[in-house]
Amino acid sequence: MNQLICNDCGKKYEMTPTLWKCDCNGVLNLVKDTPQIDIAAWNHYPNSLWRYVETMPFSKGSKTWESVTMGEGQTPLIVLDPHEPNTYVKVDYMMPTLSFKDRGAAVLMTKAKELGVSKVIADSSGNAGTAIAAYAARCEIACDIYLSDETSPKKIAQIKAHGATVKEIRGTREDIAAAAQKAVDAENVFYASHVYNPYFFEGTKTYAYEIYEQIKGAPDALIIPVGNGTLLLGAYYGFKELFENGLIQKIPKIIAIQAKNCAPLVKAYQNAEESASPVTNTGTLAEGIAIAAPARSKQILEAVQDTNGTFIDIEEDEILNARSKLSEKGFYVEVTSAVNFAGYMKYKKEAKETIVIPLCGAGIKSK
Ligand SMILES: Cc1ncc(COP(=O)(O)O)c(C=O)c1O
Ligand SMILES: [Zn+2]
Repeated sequence: MNQLICNDCGKKYEMTPTLWKCDCNGVLNLVKDTPQIDIAAWNHYPNSLWRYVETMPFSKGSKTWESVTMGEGQTPLIVLDPHEPNTYVKVDYMMPTLSFKDRGAAVLMTKAKELGVSKVIADSSGNAGTAIAAYAARCEIACDIYLSDETSPKKIAQIKAHGATVKEIRGTREDIAAAAQKAVDAENVFYASHVYNPYFFEGTKTYAYEIYEQIKGAPDALIIPVGNGTLLLGAYYGFKELFENGLIQKIPKIIAIQAKNCAPLVKAYQNAEESASPVTNTGTLAEGIAIAAPARSKQILEAVQDTNGTFIDIEEDEILNARSKLSEKGFYVEVTSAVNFAGYMKYKKEAKETIVIPLCGAGIKSK
């Protein structure tokens, strides 16, 4: 039986299909030891993120994932430009639903299937909702997705195409999360939240495992966009596991990127605060990272500090400029994903530093 522990007060719980936060409102983490990594075992699995299934908290030999997977993971890692041979882009838009969220959704929905749930609810700025909807369809689990009525119409169309019920809410991203949480509690169903459910991070951690295999080690720095921190925390946990197994000598520095118009984490970092206070989103084109009150802010700030990383904020005009610069190199990303590249352009890298930039979502997803 899996156990969960509150990140704030340390209270422990047995995992159930409907428990999603602590009585004190804190976020829950999995109680688990660092997995013992057996690299030789990876080749026993298909060439997808499920190569690393033995590092995930599923019972040994569990095969549930086989009926959930759509081949996600093992995305290309390629040199950004022949003139910058130490800078790589990881093309995570080459996923079944065209964003990195498939990493977390595939693993989280595998857990939902294992728990025997018949319905899930999630809230999203778009991409996580699309990924959860697709994998819910794959597992034959009913799914409601709560999102803003201003979400990119292409993302909404994609979610509906997978048969999910879309609940369009007028309000802030926080209002939308609150509406979903109210429905979860009222209907007593599984909250397939990429923020609250720690299984999502068991999926996004494979981002680190793949980079480790692709460059045969760890890069010096990771540029990571951050709203709720699902890629950031996943990458951190993945590299930490590799480090604790003695497979790499250091955890890469995390350079976390936010849009200036909605940057609670940058503010907290600059003020040396333990967790982020909510800000007002004054409007950003980067819809995927417009999170004014990230629930895991304490963990995100700790992760960046632990790696000697830093935070960078990006102006709106820098986002569009970065998007065209990337397109000129052949990479067509959605607007939110251009923030990462803008962050890279602002980051004062040291000579010879090896850097990985994620290309999180496909260009055709944007308005
Ligand atoms: C394209 C894109 N990039 C980055 C992110 C940021 O992810 P997170 O909010 O988990 O930090 C998102 C989240 O929706 C996204 O859609
Ligand atoms: Zn608690």
